[in-house]
Amino acid sequence: MRRKIIAGNWKMNMNFSEADDLLALIIADIDDNAKPVDVDVVICPPAVYLELATDMASGKAVLIGAQNVSSFENGAYTGEISAAMLESLEVDYAIVGHSERRKYFNESNEELTSKVKLLLAHGITPIFCCGELLDDRNDDRHMEVVSNQIGDTIFHLAGEEFQKLVIAYEPVWAIGTGKTATPGQAQEMHAFIRALIAKKYSRETADQCRILYGGSCNASNAAELFSKQDVDGGLIGGASLNADDFALIIRSA
Ligand code: PGA
Repeated sequence: MRRKIIAGNWKMNMNFSEADDLLALIIADIDDNAKPVDVDVVICPPAVYLELATDMASGKAVLIGAQNVSSFENGAYTGEISAAMLESLEVDYAIVGHSERRKYFNESNEELTSKVKLLLAHGITPIFCCGELLDDRNDDRHMEVVSNQIGDTIFHLAGEEFQKLVIAYEPVWAIGTGKTATPGQAQEMHAFIRALIAKKYSRETADQCRILYGGSCNASNAAELFSKQDVDGGLIGGASLNADDFALIIRSA
């Protein structure tokens, strides 16, 4: 039985006191109402708030993730944040290859592979993002695009490394647009990804891999998406910035 994950991706939002307040609200809600026992809750705030977040989450049923990590180990890379630094802050997860990073920061498959390997070497769970553009789906190339994104990056990992990562399927046309994939579209792609993993590694590896859905997932549509057999939770952007909505999404898992 795969544990579900509800991960909030705060992106580049909120000042320090707002981040402090939102974390406090999310943690208080989990303390008061308890989350479903088979659900892991992960909050991914901007990097400058990671220390605050890991301090506040200490001893609580909340895990903390980074939104990005350097593809270099350490040294003269001004402005970068290494996997070792995240490890030293007791960060549990890190998002890798979000479509916004691929688009605005031109992240290559080589960089993404390096980021995943460095995170795993430092005991941090990568949440590897993949997903097609609207044109890809309209041209019926969405399966091929996602297959290539995975094949050119995380399929370079050894089996025991691969078993430690989480995948997030995020159709780019659904991110921040209010257009959610239908539960059927999400299920179809998640089952396809799981079949690719079974072929590359093993049925057992495929069955234990957690595959999240992301893209305009909110308190109204989460339960139906998460009810699908191969949807193991969500990577939530906009709706994770509201404590009440995020709490509802957690309880939908
Ligand atoms: P969204 O973002 O929920 O605002 O669409 C999801 C994501 O980018 O991870």
